[in-house]
Amino acid sequence: MKYTETLMWKELNEAPAAISALKVYNADVLKKISHAVREREINNVYTVARGTSDHAMIYFKYLAESFLGLPVASGAPSAVTMYGSKMNFKNTLVLACSQSGKAEDVMEVIKCANGCGAVTVAITNDENSPLAKLAEFHLCCCAGEEKSVAATKTFSCQLYIARLLVNALLGSFNFDEFENSLNDALPLIDKQTDAPAKDFMGAEDCFVLSRGVSAAIAFECALKLQETSYIKARAYHSSDFYHGPMAMVGEGTKVILFAAKNSLETSLNEIHRQDYLNCALKMRELGAKLYIVTDDKQSFTGLDAHIIEVPEAEDESLTVFYFALTAQMLACKVSCGKGLNPDCPRALKKVTITK
Ligand code: AGP
Repeated sequence: MKYTETLMWKELNEAPAAISALKVYNADVLKKISHAVREREINNVYTVARGTSDHAMIYFKYLAESFLGLPVASGAPSAVTMYGSKMNFKNTLVLACSQSGKAEDVMEVIKCANGCGAVTVAITNDENSPLAKLAEFHLCCCAGEEKSVAATKTFSCQLYIARLLVNALLGSFNFDEFENSLNDALPLIDKQTDAPAKDFMGAEDCFVLSRGVSAAIAFECALKLQETSYIKARAYHSSDFYHGPMAMVGEGTKVILFAAKNSLETSLNEIHRQDYLNCALKMRELGAKLYIVTDDKQSFTGLDAHIIEVPEAEDESLTVFYFALTAQMLACKVSCGKGLNPDCPRALKKVTITK
């Protein structure tokens, strides 16, 4: 099967149009959420999600903590569903993210939160889903039906909604036109992922690293390579990787590093750059076969690494959208190159219900 004939490929290419649609659709509800958060004196956020949706929440966490100083905890639904906890969500924004809107364990947490005065918000791709109806506020991905088991455009939309939500909580309701740049980037990223895809067709395992905001994409990239191509890909925050897992890296170990040129604030760009550079140097020193997805090719000049170049974005909160497309295109090509079908991975269904 040619990768261009897969649903995954078709759908990942629809992300820019979906982002354009969701801005208009969610404008009013974003204002209402921002009002409720102020009125109910919300001082922390608790996110609940599974799989890809949970990775979008990693992105939300870094933006909310960096821009709003609002502590964000990644929730474990099993505290409620398996251990019967009566969580106290007073003054908490409980943010549920589920593409299908059918995640049962996530809904149990929302039920609990609705009962204790929390502000509950659901991000789904189906306004008629049970989760969309259960939460006090619903933000819709507006991505249209996603048929491939590998989530792509819905992930990009979840990321964009997370960004809009943080902006709304900051009191900003202006929309940019970023989806046009994203659309323009599609051919470049397509070209850039051709050669690494060939390399990964023979890979059994790899590590995917990044830090902070971009770590969301490292985790998503690993999941995409696992489910579409059956590669034992493992993602780490680079800061955690140094605390033990790094010992697994030896001659020829494949490592993908997502390195955004710009941080969230210009004054932090240099610290940010040094951090990625140190990580890349360390991986090379250990003999890793390194792939760097970046909009900062220059910083890695002279390093023996394969650069997968993406366009430069204003700040890291936008670079991740290019990174997401890179991860999705790479996985789609690797899968097809191995003779697999990324739309129907073995043992998986489009909707997975966990309780
Ligand atoms: C995505 O590629 C995966 N198949 C999986 O993580 C999926 O996103 C997840 O199961 C979706 O659950 P949700 O509908 O609750 O978001």
